Amino acid sequence: MNSTSQIYDWIELRGLSRPEYVKAVRAFIAAVADSTTLPKKEIADIQVAACEAVTNVVRHAYRESKCPGPIVVRCGKGESELVVEVIDAGEGFIPEDGSVREGTDPNREGGLGIPLIKQLMDGVVYWSELNGGTRVHMVKSLVRRQCRGAGARKVAVTGR
Ligand SMILES: Nc1ncnc2c1ncn2[C@@H]1O[C@H](COP(=O)(O)OP(=O)(O)O)[C@@H](O)[C@H]1O
Ligand SMILES: [Mg+2]
Repeated sequence: MNSTSQIYDWIELRGLSRPEYVKAVRAFIAAVADSTTLPKKEIADIQVAACEAVTNVVRHAYRESKCPGPIVVRCGKGESELVVEVIDAGEGFIPEDGSVREGTDPNREGGLGIPLIKQLMDGVVYWSELNGGTRVHMVKSLVRRQCRGAGARKVAVTGR
């Protein structure tokens, strides 16, 4: 069964992108994932991936405004996969075009957060639009454990 044909049971957290809420996201993911068949190690991986995505919202999404902004973390339990989405309404970015954002160090190595998210999850898709926010869609398979990490989908980016 693929993601287009399954029905998801969604639950979500909404709030502002404050660093102190990263812990709450960890607990939220554990609570949802505990009700699946996933082993503890896989649940820990999802927690790390989700917290990286949330930390990116805290650190980067509302950088210009210098104030926390809206964030949604939602989990969808399907028959064969658990989906976690982290959504913000911030500045957006262009992940893979090599562009350097104003204010960043051009000599800086690429961050480790997004590669780590891709490594820990079975599928990751980014939708991001400059000044239109970012949605990170992360998938953990509940059935094909032997394929974990092998089929991460390519990042999709919309916008300029
Ligand atoms: N939600 C987001 N909103 C705006 N920019 C983001 C977001 N997530 C990631 N980015 C951009 O992608 C870059 C790479 O992220 P990441 O790999 O986590 O590394 P780091 O956070 O250490 O810079 C960030 O530096 C930032 O420019
Ligand atoms: Mg990061």
